[in-house]
Amino acid sequence: MKLGQPHGGVLVNRWDPDYDFQSITEKVELDEIALSDLDLIGVGAYSPLTGFLTEEDYHAVVESMRLSTGEPWTIPISLPTTEENAKNIEINSLVRLEKEGIVYGVIEVSDIFIPDKNKEAKFVFKTTDREHPGVRKLFERPNVYLGGTITLIARRQINHSLDLHFDPLKTRENFAQLGWKTVVGFQTRNPVHRAHEYIQKSALEIVDGLFLNPLVGATKADDIPADVRMKSYQVLLDNYYPKDHVFLGVFTAAMRYAGPREAVFHAIVRKNFGCTHFIVGRDHAGVGNYYGTYDAQKIFSHFTEEELGISLLFFEHSFYCNSCGNMATAKTCPHEVSNHVILSGTKVREMLRNGEQPPETFSRKEVIEVLISGLRKWAIQS
Ligand code: ADX
Repeated sequence: MKLGQPHGGVLVNRWDPDYDFQSITEKVELDEIALSDLDLIGVGAYSPLTGFLTEEDYHAVVESMRLSTGEPWTIPISLPTTEENAKNIEINSLVRLEKEGIVYGVIEVSDIFIPDKNKEAKFVFKTTDREHPGVRKLFERPNVYLGGTITLIARRQINHSLDLHFDPLKTRENFAQLGWKTVVGFQTRNPVHRAHEYIQKSALEIVDGLFLNPLVGATKADDIPADVRMKSYQVLLDNYYPKDHVFLGVFTAAMRYAGPREAVFHAIVRKNFGCTHFIVGRDHAGVGNYYGTYDAQKIFSHFTEEELGISLLFFEHSFYCNSCGNMATAKTCPHEVSNHVILSGTKVREMLRNGEQPPETFSRKEVIEVLISGLRKWAIQS
């Protein structure tokens, strides 16, 4: 497969705003995760998926990190509903997909099944510990899964990032207009700190463009809210990035915190958005100590580059070294760890919430200012 082609070869389009759902009586109430998944399936971001996973695909994905057709796919995209609601739903029937009274889509139900969530947790998250935010969410969601092709009818509104919400068709068009032949995708659920900037710019030295694609779907409560982060990205790009080599657009999926498996999923989805390269640094999509620092890089050895269709750019843990006077990694810096500016995400969030400034060697001052004032407003409102 050629680089930059959608996964499975064709960009799926299941969006039909004129679809007539009036005669459909049964419904499923969507949660935040299913709503974002529905939208992303509909516009082709999850190509080749045309709906929520069937039972066969679900088992294939959980057990072998592939769809039943053999294509790599590492995260189950499921539509959970309650046992009570499932009793009213028949195979081959159409069901409305709603949230708070709005019909966002319809599913043609081909499968109704009860997943083994312990097994799903073990395979996908590598733990059944309910302290893991992804595992907790998995068990909180209802216990019956529906599989089948969807039609997306209404788009979800994302207030703080409307003008930066682009579908894969649009990002592909934009990259082409910018004249980019190679584009590196960057996933983040955090503000862009110096380490992120370092690996992004290192990547940018070898490709035409950077697609800064922060995740703005559901995250765990103590992650920095997306609207605050969005302002921090803008101010950073305005001051430190060349406009004709960077494109900022949001990624509306929910965060799973599935570490290695989610890294593969993130790469495949960015391929659908038109990226030819994807960055995976240290503990990508990780949380706590559930995954090893480079597990999210090692997992890619299960797939050939050809079947993934996107080039991976792996980066070591990077930091500012006071003795080098530079950003560096263990590969490029000979000095003792005591020279390195390394702060954990938890520590930084704590500092920001207390109005303390992390050092400029950790994060640009413009970013810190936006975060401190944004978090203050957020704390007052919430
Ligand atoms: S993530 O959950 O979205 O992966 P985060 O926003 O922290 O979390 O990371 C975004 C990307 O930057 C990931 O690929 C991650 O591996 C990488 N990354 C984050 N911090 C560092 C660091 N200090 N050194 C190298 N890579 C990093």
